[in-house]
Amino acid sequence: MSLLRVENLSIQFGGVQAIQELDFEISEGTIHSIIGPNGAGKTTLFNLITGLYRPSAGAIYLDDAQIAGKRPHDLARMGLSRTFQNLRIMMNMTAIENVMVGRHLHLNRNLLACMLRLPMITRADKAARKRCIELMDLVGLGGAIDADASALPYGALKRLEIARALASEPRLLLLDEPAAGLNARETKEIDDVIATVARAGVTVVLVEHDMKLVMGISDHILVLDHGRKLAEGTPDAVRNNPAVVAAYLGQV
Ligand SMILES: Nc1ncnc2c1ncn2[C@@H]1O[C@H](COP(=O)(O)OP(=O)(O)OP(=O)(O)O)[C@@H](O)[C@H]1O
Ligand SMILES: [Mg+2]
Repeated sequence: MSLLRVENLSIQFGGVQAIQELDFEISEGTIHSIIGPNGAGKTTLFNLITGLYRPSAGAIYLDDAQIAGKRPHDLARMGLSRTFQNLRIMMNMTAIENVMVGRHLHLNRNLLACMLRLPMITRADKAARKRCIELMDLVGLGGAIDADASALPYGALKRLEIARALASEPRLLLLDEPAAGLNARETKEIDDVIATVARAGVTVVLVEHDMKLVMGISDHILVLDHGRKLAEGTPDAVRNNPAVVAAYLGQV
């Protein structure tokens, strides 16, 4: 059974049809990429799935529960987590504090109470810190636990965002351009992190322009163009699809 199913999904902004009558499914335990030219609707689709936008029409199912229009923190509690296209790291905090925020924001209704109790580290806080350290190890940041976020290179910050997104223990992790702006070595590190996350049992949805990364790691690819599905299938099927080559791959 699919973990996520999108049916006849549409959203418009003024005259712009950002997503149009879109249908697709994501199987549990797979790495599913969404590609398409700038403005194709990829981030909008993430915003719909994670509850930032309410669709004009259509439905989104997580397992069999209709989730379109639910609030982001409810969806986080149901197992959705994401990173954003633009880095959202708090630079005045340490690396692990950023990951802890991910854990508290999603799992703890009473962040303020936690913050007021900060000097007294509770057993729950200790367990949370231990888990956050594990997640930082998983993304290759075990050596930077207490580093100031502002001291970390960009490639490390992109991996830190993934650790923060994992801190809410998602079933489905949506990554919006995790390799944007990275060099080849940093992109390989992201590639390894995504593979490790998937092996740990988290279903991954990847939006990415780096075709080498996408073609190498994906089980399934959905191609969007002007908010519509242009094609979908295995990397080989998509790579050899004439419509995809004409609309997208031919440009890069
Ligand atoms: N909140 C909004 N208000 C108005 N228009 C929007 C909004 N969000 C997205 N759009 C429009 O929807 C279309 C799809 O944008 P989106 O950001 O989803 O594209 P994308 O595929 O993520 O592109 P990129 O690869 O450049 O990140 C664009 O025309 C964009 O201007
Ligand atoms: Mg985008």
